[in-house]
Amino acid sequence: MEATTPEPTLRVLIPAAKIQERIEELGAQIDADYPPGQLYLVAILKGACFFLSDLARALKRPARIDFIGISSYGRGKTSSGEVKLTKDLDVTIEGADVLVVEDIVDTGVTLNYLIHVLEQRKPRSVRIATLLDKPDRRLRPVEVAYVGFKIPDEFVVGYGLDYAEDYRNLRDICVLGG
Ligand code: IMP
Ligand code: MG
Repeated sequence: MEATTPEPTLRVLIPAAKIQERIEELGAQIDADYPPGQLYLVAILKGACFFLSDLARALKRPARIDFIGISSYGRGKTSSGEVKLTKDLDVTIEGADVLVVEDIVDTGVTLNYLIHVLEQRKPRSVRIATLLDKPDRRLRPVEVAYVGFKIPDEFVVGYGLDYAEDYRNLRDICVLGG
């Protein structure tokens, strides 16, 4: 008899409606926190794309968007520990209020590195907004100004988050098992 690999299971952790509701709250909070003016939203490819597009539309202030590519994970569920810039910003951020938009902060290795890189470019301010936070797994300190949801140490997919490039287009955030 042939051995078969079991299909991975998906359990909904945060349903789509709850994600949208929380992003509206975050948008209102960000609008209230910053003085009037333009905000530069810098999303980390690729996982943060969905969060960026919803968060940008939840803001009432003028916002510009740009993307930065960073790789710290291989194709698996654990970090390779190495961080490298795979795509840089298209614009200069000197003097700008920059809000880094991330899907999830896990070990903190990625954002700890990125914040150092961005600060060298002399923005007026730089803060982080992340949809998800797994605080139990932190290895490097990261100051996160806006958090959508704190989640337990489980591997999640959907709403931009992937496992080996799959599942990004799920509307809900799900725990991947199996
Ligand atoms: P960190 O450098 O360990 O904080 O890793 C952050 C990056 O790891 C995120 O931007 C994700 O791409 C990836 N990551 C961490 N945890 C998960 C998860 O549960 N599901 C999918 N990707 C994850
Ligand atoms: Mg990512």
